[in-house]
Amino acid sequence: MAVERTLSIIKPDATRRNLTGKINAVFEDAGLRIVAQKRVQLTEAQAGAFYAVHKERPFYGELVSFMISGPVVLQVLEAENAVAKHRDVMGATNPKDAAPGTVRAEFAESIEANSVHGSDSLENAVNEIRFFFAETEIVG
Ligand code: CMP
Repeated sequence: MAVERTLSIIKPDATRRNLTGKINAVFEDAGLRIVAQKRVQLTEAQAGAFYAVHKERPFYGELVSFMISGPVVLQVLEAENAVAKHRDVMGATNPKDAAPGTVRAEFAESIEANSVHGSDSLENAVNEIRFFFAETEIVG
């Protein structure tokens, strides 16, 4: 299986509740390595562009507002099969559907304030990592 990189975002509901370390412990226990990390306040333009794929969805405006409501932690995670591994440990988008022990089951407040984002394919991971990180900021 190939070593992959995936984009991870710890969202404002989680940074507000001081959960960055607890969430990253779940990722690291699953074998994901944090090879880049920065805590930032996204601008409306950045959040809007990052979620442009959802532009026509009814929740787009609220999603962008939520993502700029406080700091986020942007991360690159590396492991064999990182994209699927990360999605497994995050759990389903809606915490009501998330399996016990997953980050969203443990920590998410709602489908919108769902604590974490992860790339949904290797192709999107490459693009999402490039959106936030220069290659020189990623140290494996
Ligand atoms: P994320 O993995 O960051 O990708 C898109 C986000 O949109 C998703 O997590 C949720 O936070 C949000 N989202 C998806 N569906 C809904 C919905 N029905 N209502 C509000 N937010 C949603």
